[in-house]
Amino acid sequence: MELDINGQRHWVRDDLVDPAMPLLWVLRDVLELTGTKFGCGIGACGACTVHVDGQPVRSCVTPVSAVEGRSVRTIEGLGMPPERHVLQRAWIEHQVPQCGYCQSGMLMAAAALLAREPDPTDAQIDAAITNLCRCGTYPRVRAAIKSAAAELRSPGRSRRYLPGQP
Ligand code: FES
Ligand code: FES
Repeated sequence: MELDINGQRHWVRDDLVDPAMPLLWVLRDVLELTGTKFGCGIGACGACTVHVDGQPVRSCVTPVSAVEGRSVRTIEGLGMPPERHVLQRAWIEHQVPQCGYCQSGMLMAAAALLAREPDPTDAQIDAAITNLCRCGTYPRVRAAIKSAAAELRSPGRSRRYLPGQP
């Protein structure tokens, strides 16, 4: 099976990967992209959120066969030092993570939101970010999203950092 992950082609062996295997396990156990986290395994918590063709999906309940021929983006593809994504910089500025476990999924959900809504309201953020955080970082998540959105709207902003782009 051929997969497009973070702009790169990956071949996964058929004897290692059943078409029904959740994408999350392929990412973590086969491709060793462990930034995407396992939380509940039933599509409820959002810790496993990745993008498929720019849309946020819960990879624990997405069969890998469903993403064949589509573009998958994980937290590893969002940004890496020194080229952090604008949301990652806002996350640091607002000191969002506490234990950090849920934060990969939070960031991926936030990036998908900003890709379609450049100036999200509190209600839009709450509707889009349904991820669960046991540390209660929701107010800081909201503040960081607004901060990143404002930076993206500022004149002269490099398109290189726009969410949703590889
Ligand atoms: S681990 Fe996928 S939604 Fe919780
Ligand atoms: S930062 Fe700990 S669960 Fe969200």
